Amino acid sequence: MSDKRIELQDVSHAFGTVEVIKSLNLTISDHEIVAIVGPSGCGKTTLLNLLSGHEPPSSGSIQRVGKARMIYQQDGLFPWLTVEENIALGLRHQKDEEARRRQVRDLLTFIRLEGFAGHYPHQLSGGMRQRVELARALAGETDILLMDEPFSALDYITRLRMRHELAEIFNERPRTVILVTHDIEEAAQLADRIVVLSERPARIINVIPIRLPRPRNLTHPLVVEAIHCILAQMGLEDAVIGPELQPAKA
Ligand SMILES: Nc1ncnc2c1ncn2[C@@H]1O[C@H](COP(=O)(O)OP(=O)(O)OP(=O)(O)O)[C@@H](O)[C@H]1O
Ligand SMILES: [Mg+2]
Repeated sequence: MSDKRIELQDVSHAFGTVEVIKSLNLTISDHEIVAIVGPSGCGKTTLLNLLSGHEPPSSGSIQRVGKARMIYQQDGLFPWLTVEENIALGLRHQKDEEARRRQVRDLLTFIRLEGFAGHYPHQLSGGMRQRVELARALAGETDILLMDEPFSALDYITRLRMRHELAEIFNERPRTVILVTHDIEEAAQLADRIVVLSERPARIINVIPIRLPRPRNLTHPLVVEAIHCILAQMGLEDAVIGPELQPAKA
C-alpha cells in the first residue's frame, strides 16, 4: 500500500475574481508533519479548508486518504460542556471507561489544566481554551490533523513547552499533520518539511526538509539553518538578524 495521505495536483482557488491559491502541487506522506508558512493573507487558512474538504478547489484535484480534523485559529469548544467533557468528546471511540478517564487525565496534564477539569470554557482565558481544543483534537482517532496556528494565543514559554510535548505525543502516536504557523521556530522544531508560500495568490516558493528526530533543540545547527533559510526565502533575514549575526557565507 502506498503511504501517500494527501496529494494536491495543480490546485488553484479563487473567491470571485480574487485569486488566492495558484497551481499548488504537493504530496504528503502518512505520518509526515508538514508546516506551512507564508505572509498574512496569502491563503494558508484557505488551503486548510480545501484540504479538509470544507471548500472544493476552483480547479485541480485533492486526494485524501482518511479522516481529517481541523483545529481552528479560534477555538471551537462546546460552551455548555466542561473542559473534561469537551476533551472526552474526542474519546467516544474508547469504550473502556477507566481507560477513557486515564486518557483525559493525561491530556489535562499535557495542557497543564489539571485543576480545571470541571470549568466551563467561558471561565478560561483564550490561551487555556486553545489548549483544551488541542487536547480534544489529540484525543480523537483522526488520521490527519489540520492545525491553523494552534499556539498563536499562547505566551512564548507555553508555546515552547507545548511544542516539545506535542513532539513527544507525535512520537508515541504518529499522525499526518499540516501545521499552518507564523512562528518559524515552531515550524523548524516540529516539521519534516516546511512549505514556504508566496504573497497571494499563494504559490510554493520553496520546500525545506529537516531530517532530524523530534523533540528538537532550538539551537541545533539544522534547526538554526532552517530558520535562516525560511527568513531568507521571505526576504526577512536582514530585517530580523543583523548581518553581524548571520553565518559567514562560504
Ligand atoms: N470566504 C471568503 N470569501 C472571500 N474571500 C476570502 C474568503 N476567505 C478568505 N478570503 C480571502 O482570501 C485571502 C486569503 O485568506 P486566508 O484566510 O486564507 O489567509 P491566511 O494566509 O490564512 O492569513 P492569516 O495568516 O492572516 O491567517 C484573503 O485575501 C481573504 O480576504
Ligand atoms: Mg489564516
